[in-house]
Amino acid sequence: MGREFLDVFTEWAEEYDAFVQGKDKQYKEVFEDYEKILDSIVEKSGRNVMEFGIGTGNLTEKLLNAEKNVFAVEPSRQMRELANGKLPEDFIIYDGDLQQYPIPTHKIDTIVSSYVFHHLTDEEKNSVLKQYNQLLTAGGKVIFADTLFISEKSYKLMIEEAVDMGYAELAEDLNREHYPMLPVVYEALKQAGFLELSFRQMNRFVWVFEGTKK
Ligand SMILES: C[S@@+](CC[C@H](N)C(=O)[O-])C[C@H]1O[C@@H](n2cnc3c(N)ncnc32)[C@H](O)[C@@H]1O
Repeated sequence: MGREFLDVFTEWAEEYDAFVQGKDKQYKEVFEDYEKILDSIVEKSGRNVMEFGIGTGNLTEKLLNAEKNVFAVEPSRQMRELANGKLPEDFIIYDGDLQQYPIPTHKIDTIVSSYVFHHLTDEEKNSVLKQYNQLLTAGGKVIFADTLFISEKSYKLMIEEAVDMGYAELAEDLNREHYPMLPVVYEALKQAGFLELSFRQMNRFVWVFEGTKK
């Protein structure tokens, strides 16, 4: 599990940056204010960051520009190659995923990830959050940007809307992946030992949410 959606990204990699720029009408709202979403993660991050699912490296680039030390993890070879073309020549991108990853080469005070956490089931999310709590230094943070729904009702309405608009790929995506309900993520963060939980809605789909290690 976890890597089950990787084939989607193998096919999507070359076109991914066009999508985040809103060039596909089905995903335009998902990526609305994408740059602002990534910037808000950078602003909240400490100095020593671990990033999961870096994709083409857009958040990584911003973190490096803000002089953070970044331990970057990405399971797709195609995505790693594209990110390598964007990031400094000596920058290492490790093969790994949200659940299985190499041991970071430096102490980690912030774990970040954008548009990735929904690849895990709720059970897997619970389990990795506990791992991340152990991995972080005292006072460290997890910060995620991802699609969340406040209730099953709002999730179903969004799928219906996608179907009505003729957005078949978006509807299939919403049905296929593990987009969580906000209260479930809230509880998972709390159970994993995170405090000072905050959730901020950034567009109709995406929220930036965070927690601090006790
Ligand atoms: C929608 S892209 C997001 C890329 C980038 N973080 C961004 O904000 O533009 C999702 C990325 O997560 C990666 N991915 C897929 N399954 C994953 C997993 N289980 N753990 C970590 N990354 C995963 C994909 O290869 C892809 O690069």
